[in-house]
Amino acid sequence: MNILLLGSGGRESALAWKMSQSTLCTNLYIAPGNGGTPSYGTNVALSPMDFEAIDAFVAENGIDMIVVGNEDPLVAGITDFMAERRPGLPVVGPCKAGAMLEGSKDFAKRFMARHGIPTARYRSFTAETLGDGLSFLDELQPPYVLKADGLAAGKGVLIIDNIEQARDALREMLGGMFGKSSATVVIEEFLSGIECSVFVLTDGNGGYRTLPVAKDYKRIGEGDTGPNTGGMGAVSPVVFADETFMRKVDERIIRPTIDGLLSDGIDYRGFIFLGLINVGGDPMVIEYNVRMGDPETEAVMPRIESDLVALMRAAALGDLGDMRLDISPKACVTVMTVSQGYPGSYPKGHIIDIADDINSDTIIFHAGTARDADGRLVTSGGRVIAVSSLGNDTADALSRSMEGVAKIGFDGKYYRRDIGQDLLSL
Ligand code: AMP
Ligand code: GLY
Repeated sequence: MNILLLGSGGRESALAWKMSQSTLCTNLYIAPGNGGTPSYGTNVALSPMDFEAIDAFVAENGIDMIVVGNEDPLVAGITDFMAERRPGLPVVGPCKAGAMLEGSKDFAKRFMARHGIPTARYRSFTAETLGDGLSFLDELQPPYVLKADGLAAGKGVLIIDNIEQARDALREMLGGMFGKSSATVVIEEFLSGIECSVFVLTDGNGGYRTLPVAKDYKRIGEGDTGPNTGGMGAVSPVVFADETFMRKVDERIIRPTIDGLLSDGIDYRGFIFLGLINVGGDPMVIEYNVRMGDPETEAVMPRIESDLVALMRAAALGDLGDMRLDISPKACVTVMTVSQGYPGSYPKGHIIDIADDINSDTIIFHAGTARDADGRLVTSGGRVIAVSSLGNDTADALSRSMEGVAKIGFDGKYYRRDIGQDLLSL
């Protein structure tokens, strides 16, 4: 098969790495890809949002399947666009209606309420109902959780301790703090617990497979301190997501989600990302995303033993049948190396040096990397390279990733040394 993967981050590197190992994969194209993806296929200078150009590329290169890595094209309707232009072409990623689970938090909350899926108590407000929103804040206990309804590049959630600041934030959000994305604001009850990410691949006809569970580390500083980032690392598996917990996740969240999509008439073929929180042993949904997580994918892919291309194709064609998804019992720890200054402003264009004696249990996934005019590998983003290692357990995998990180050099390299450490004491 000739496969086109859309995206350019560490997630797409991990997907490309895994897909390129499939015997079904003849040619892999990555649009636009990054400085590392040419190891797995051919980079194509196309924006995932330029549907016309993607369609032309599909026609010219005999593409047999499209895999959508990031949410923006899904929310903008690439799957529906392709279904109209190229009926029958498998696309991994939901239709526009399904992508609303990530594209609108209000839609996601209404979906969960309709289908009895456990999530925080909430209400939604617009500028017209600001007064009601201020009263609702008074009913809640701090901290206050305010969410911009639409996509806000991961920045649309504010968690505020003080009621006056929460009231101000609501006014500012409804006043355009996140542009159109915060024209509606969801205010919800704060839930206390540890989070984890559960990924499900579904075929739109009730069939699904649950991928390895992961946990990501969002804060820049060790011990989960400092500002939020796109993700500083991830681990898989997650100790507390044991069989009992996962049975509850399956019964209370995954099945009702799959059944809810079916009964709402939403044709969802692709990955569902359940952002969950463990509240006293009971899973609740914090958010839905309609794609794989980054950096979770970098910790999940190395643990998948089955042919991912075969699974994705079956899902996109609408029938996972009895296909197996085998998972390695090993642990994987991903450590992200980032540019100095990230998540604030940071320099680009620093030369990256990667030693050639990387341990065989370690995989280097490029994220914000590019080639300069002279073909040298340089930094081009905040999150630069993810280092993932398999090990016998989390501690073992972490120490292998630490060795891997030491073999990557660029000016201002920063990373966390404590990825997964919090789980060791549970
Ligand atoms: P979201 O974009 O919805 O994932 O929110 C970003 C982060 O805010 C989540 O990963 C949680 O850490 C936190 N968060 C969101 N909603 C809640 C909530 N109701 N209670 C506690 N933390 C939350
Ligand atoms: N790691 C969280 C996300 O991909 O949204």
